[in-house]
Parts: sequence; C-alpha cells; structure tokens
Amino acid sequence: MTPMAGKNNTISAPKGVPDYVPPQSRTFVAVRDTLVAAADRAGYSPIELPVFEDTALFTRGVGESSDVVSKEMYTFTDRGDRSITLRPEGTAGVMRAVIEHGLDRGALPVKLVYEGPFFRSEAPQAGRYRQFHQVGIEAIGSDDPALDAEVIAVGHEAYRAIGLTGYRLELTSLGDQNDRPAYREKLQAFLAALPLDDATRERARINPLRVLDDKRPAVQAMLADAPLMLDNLSAESSEHFTEVLAILDRLDVPYVINPRMVRGLDYYTRTTFEFVHPKLGAQSGLGGGGRYDGLMAELGGQPLSGIGFGLGVDRTVLAAAAEGLAVGPTARCEVYGVPMGQAASRELAVIAGRLRGAGIRVDRSYGGRGLKVALKSADSSGARVALVLGERDLEQGTVMVKDLLSGDQRPVALAEVESAVAAILAG
Ligand code: HAM
Repeated sequence: MTPMAGKNNTISAPKGVPDYVPPQSRTFVAVRDTLVAAADRAGYSPIELPVFEDTALFTRGVGESSDVVSKEMYTFTDRGDRSITLRPEGTAGVMRAVIEHGLDRGALPVKLVYEGPFFRSEAPQAGRYRQFHQVGIEAIGSDDPALDAEVIAVGHEAYRAIGLTGYRLELTSLGDQNDRPAYREKLQAFLAALPLDDATRERARINPLRVLDDKRPAVQAMLADAPLMLDNLSAESSEHFTEVLAILDRLDVPYVINPRMVRGLDYYTRTTFEFVHPKLGAQSGLGGGGRYDGLMAELGGQPLSGIGFGLGVDRTVLAAAAEGLAVGPTARCEVYGVPMGQAASRELAVIAGRLRGAGIRVDRSYGGRGLKVALKSADSSGARVALVLGERDLEQGTVMVKDLLSGDQRPVALAEVESAVAAILAG
C-alpha cells in the first residue's frame, strides 16, 4: 500500500476528502447543528446508523442503474468475506433499520433525522468530495400531501435559519406505480426514434429518465420535445402534487417547477425536489429529496410510502460563505485568563473552573508568557472579557477584569468575578 506522502515524508488526507480545522470547523458544526435543529422543531427523532452496510442494501435500494451504485461506491470485502459498502446515502440505511427494529409497527408516520458522513468515489472538485456530510430526514408511512409539504418546508426553514436567501427550490412529480410504466414506454418510444449512441441507447433501456439528464448540448437539443412525466400524471398523482403546491403557497415557501429534474438515485416517485444554489458553480445541488414509495417493500418491508431529503452540509457551508454569512459563534471562548506567575496560574485555574461550572466559556494562557503576548492571545481567542491576574492582584485578593470591546478595566474581588463577568457578557 502506498501511503499518501506529502512533503518531508508526512502523510496527507486521501484525495477529495475535506478536513475542517479551526476556525472553519466551528462554522461546519454550527451549520450542521442548525440544519438538524430545523428537523427537531418538526418532531423528527434522531437515528444513528453505521457508516458501512451490506452492499446489497444499496444495489437493491438505491438502484443498479444509478451512477452512485454503478460507479461511485466504496465497496470492499471484509475479513469474513462479506461484501461491505461505505454508505453513499442515508435513505436505504434508515429503511433497513426501520424494518429491522419494527419502527413501522407503531404510530405512523415514523419521522427520523440523521447527520453524518457519506462516501462516493466521484471526481473531486469544488463542492464535490469523496467524503461529505449530510443532514437528512425521512418520514415513513403516510401519503398525506401535507407531509410532502412539511418535509420541503423543513428544508427551506433549515436554510433560512442559516441565513441563506440565494437558493432556489425546484419541484416536480415523478408519478407513481400507476402512471410511470405508461410514461416510461412513451419516453422510450420517443428516445428510440432518436439517433443516439449505443451507450445512451442502453441507458434509455435501463432507465430512460436518466437520458433526460444528458448534459451534451447535441443530445439536449434532440430532447427538446421529449414527453415529460409532469404532463402524463394520473389524476391521483396530479391531485397530490397540486395539494403539495397549495400548502407550500400557504406557507410562503417559494418554488419553481422543473419538470426535467432528474435525481441521481433511482427510488424516487411522485413529489421530488432540489434546493439549488447558483453561487455554488457546477455543484449547485445544496440538498434534495422526494418520495420513495416503493423502497420499503423493495427492501423486504411493508409496502409503506416515504419521503425525505438529504441536505449537503459541506455545500451549505460553501453557500453561506458565498453569501457572506457568518454562522455560529466565531469566538473560541467568552473569557480569557492571563496569569502572571505560578501562584496566579494556580488561582486562575480555580477561577476558570468556577466560571466554566457556571456555563461560561473560558480559556487561558499557559506557561508564563509575557503580558503582551498573552493579551494578544486573548484578542485572537475572540473573548469578550480578559481576566488579568498578577502578583499584586493576588495579594489584594482581586482580579483585573477587562472588557475587550470597550477597553474598560477594573479590579474585582475574587468572590465577585463571576457576577462581574456575567454583567459584561449580558451587556
Ligand atoms: P442526493 O441528492 O444524492 O440525495 O444528496 C443530497 C445532497 O448531498 C446533495 O444535494 C449535495 O448537497 C450533497 N452531496 C451529494 N454528493 C456529494 C458530494 N460528492 N460532495 C459533496 N456533497 C454531496 C440523497 O443522498 C438522498 N438520500 C436524499 C433523500 C433522503 N431523499 C429522500 N430521502
């Protein structure tokens, strides 16, 4: 095995895998938690699942004709000779766990939220990584169009809570098991009459919808008059979609209909959507999801419908930066302690412990650094308050409490440090 050697024989991260180090890591965590919080507000319970699964879960669940399964999975044989795959997406694993633990035997819909890393062996580029993070929700066991609207609105609210405004919500309906076969035949007949190359013909045979997503301008030109699912919905599918739109209208969730939307995974039915951020360049998909009404039965469970989304955390971080948003606390701490000398260091340890116990975020300098250097650290920590403790202060039983925003400072009795700090932080 060749290690990923960098300069001086050090080892680098694998290709296409982002590291988040301070201070950007704070933004990453704040973005992720803000997205999760939106789902929490709508009654989704957390679910924690393994990052590797039996390979069959994805070939059966996500679909063999999708790029994700056919070209991008990290699949390996484990020591017990089993075929294992690092999860490329979250929905199939959630479905597996719901079936395995009988969650679908209780009250419906089952509403779950997850976050974590996913893995796809794609060609790395800006916003496209081989390990990326998603926050996802899944709602299983209800056909109510109000549930479709809820899932979409939770995504919208999640981005709004970050402060994002520059994205667009695209929506369509991909029909159900009643209207899809007829449409598929219609589309296949249309494609059969086109002068397509062999590989594209083969794609048209396996999954004709995917041909609509062909990026080549010459192919796109031929597809201008292709029949669209949205124009071929059954009355039932059409009514469902209309009701979803009506609720989104009432919720003031803006959207555009994109009847040519093609999602990368095969399980989608009926309501399907994507959040697109034009400032993200080629990888503009901020998040996406939809209904997957046949998935649970496909995986051996009850024939329950479901709907959910996956929001890309990495791309949301990029979108927030592109919109100039600062997300989450940038400060490492609220209070920074600067002791001068050994005795002061010991006393500051006690003060810091007390303040932390009161829920205040405290850091401090170590190792007898000079006052100037230590105060610089206080500044760069982002703290609002500095506590300077010298020998003279110790003798007098006081600490110098400095408001780093206003520059005001005054000696405060040791017993009153906590209230003095709290007053500045509250101001
Ligand atoms: P997906 O559209 O494949 O859907 O992925 C969702 C989001 O994950 C994308 O919109 C994008 O933001 C992010 N993403 C995907 N691949 C990468 C990558 N290589 N690098 C960075 N970000 C990426 C799903 O995965 C479905 N499981 C969503 C879902 C849940 N549908 C129903 N329920």
